[in-house]
Amino acid sequence: MEHITISCDIERLQWDELSKEEQQLIDSAKEATYSAYAPYSHFFVGAALRLQDGSIMIGNNQENASYPCGLCAERTALFAANSQYPHLQVTALAIAARNAEGFLKTPITPCGSCRQVMLEVEHRQKAHIKIYLYGENGVYRIASSEELLPLQFTL
Ligand code: THU
Repeated sequence: MEHITISCDIERLQWDELSKEEQQLIDSAKEATYSAYAPYSHFFVGAALRLQDGSIMIGNNQENASYPCGLCAERTALFAANSQYPHLQVTALAIAARNAEGFLKTPITPCGSCRQVMLEVEHRQKAHIKIYLYGENGVYRIASSEELLPLQFTL
């Protein structure tokens, strides 16, 4: 018997350690929380992605009275980008979340389904997506969604 230990590399940064472009992307994710539709969970998630041409697209969680019909912010943004600009790579994705107390202090971490979708976008475009997880007390920067989904399922 042997143990296999899988590690995940995360950089934790303070706001002023981020570049202007990184701050802009994260601010867009924060802003996107204000147009989320989350009347059931009251948990407002925003995602902002940067395309290869430098433009930013946003997404946010869209809930439904029939709960499973809803969609997370990350997938809303990624599916919108891939449906409108399938030939432009997604270079970075920032995520922020807010509840009744305001923005989360520790970074929001994407659900398993979103990680699976992020990974397939990376595989499809053959380039990593930099991930930024916003928390008021620090931002996690991760080089690729590969880091977030070890033992991933692929065909
Ligand atoms: N949610 C996201 O939008 N992204 C995540 O990574 C985790 C969860 C949404 C789904 C649902 O609308 C609400 O947050 C509470 O789960």
